[in-house]
Amino acid sequence: MGNGLAIEAKGLFKSFDGKEAVRGIDLAVPEGSIYGILGPNGAGKTTTLRMLLGIIDPDRGHRTLLGHERPLEAAGIVGYLPEERGLYPAMHTRDAIAFMGALRGLPLAEGRKRAEQLLGENGLGEYVAKPVKSLSKGMAQTVQLLGTIVHRPRLVVLDEPFSGLDAINQGRLEHLIREEATAGVTVIFSTHVIAHAERLCERIAIIADGRIRFEGGVADARDRLRPQVRLRTRAADGPWRAALPEEAEQRGDVWHFELPKAGVEPLLRGLIDGGAGIEELSIERPGLHDAFVAIAGEAAAREMEESALAVGEAA
Ligand SMILES: Nc1ncnc2c1ncn2[C@@H]1O[C@H](COP(=O)(O)OP(=O)(O)OP(=O)(O)O)[C@@H](O)[C@H]1O
Ligand SMILES: [Mg+2]
Repeated sequence: MGNGLAIEAKGLFKSFDGKEAVRGIDLAVPEGSIYGILGPNGAGKTTTLRMLLGIIDPDRGHRTLLGHERPLEAAGIVGYLPEERGLYPAMHTRDAIAFMGALRGLPLAEGRKRAEQLLGENGLGEYVAKPVKSLSKGMAQTVQLLGTIVHRPRLVVLDEPFSGLDAINQGRLEHLIREEATAGVTVIFSTHVIAHAERLCERIAIIADGRIRFEGGVADARDRLRPQVRLRTRAADGPWRAALPEEAEQRGDVWHFELPKAGVEPLLRGLIDGGAGIEELSIERPGLHDAFVAIAGEAAAREMEESALAVGEAA
């Protein structure tokens, strides 16, 4: 891929039954990166991933997958964990993984060998020769995930890979994703659990209502929100109150407000010179969770404005 991108998508649109599920999505996923697609239920994440993989075609727009204009041509070097899970219940765990590899062109004998190794590394060594139906739901999901990477793909697409896993297995999966990326594999996954994206991803896209609301680094998403100040003072009132922004809110004896644009020093000076008697002061950078809620919320608000406008225009 001359441009260093594992996935490039421009202007993807998709409607189901006349309703637009995806409305103009652009994506650029750098090779070897871990990329997160975040968004609330029904945002269009799964539909987008399916279009990227060539499982469904967009109504409009185009995408390239590992340099291929027709994504299915790259199937042998792609791994995909779909949202709806499923393995043959009677198959042995090792064979289930080898079978998934075989579907992507990996010789069965090699698949079985690698399956044993992967199962061992992921705490499932004792299940190698046991049928899939003897696994718990979370274990079966791990097995399916191992089947997704058994053929050593260059790109791994995981739809909600963390859902249904306990904390230990979520940690294992994070570790596995990092290892893949270290080996040069591109990993793209969808989630609505922001913490995973925050720990793993270099870049994220936040989708709401079929559109990209944010694309960029995790830190950039966080920087969209201003740091939050908590302040407790000895003085109940006084000239120092002029240093607080108008929107400052008092809950109990603690003031909460966004750090003013001018920054920390003017605030401190105003508080001290104004006789506040600072007892407690903290300035915290918001997490990705807050940014996500703010961005997805902003999107919802804009959506409402747009539909109000559209109604206005129609009238
Ligand atoms: N095959 C389909 N037929 C009809 N509507 C569909 C189909 N697939 C998706 N949709 C609709 O498209 C929209 C986006 O769905 P999608 O599954 O892409 O969302 P999502 O972001 O993956 O949500 P979730 O977090 O719940 O998995 C929804 O309104 C959904 O009802
Ligand atoms: Mg989905």
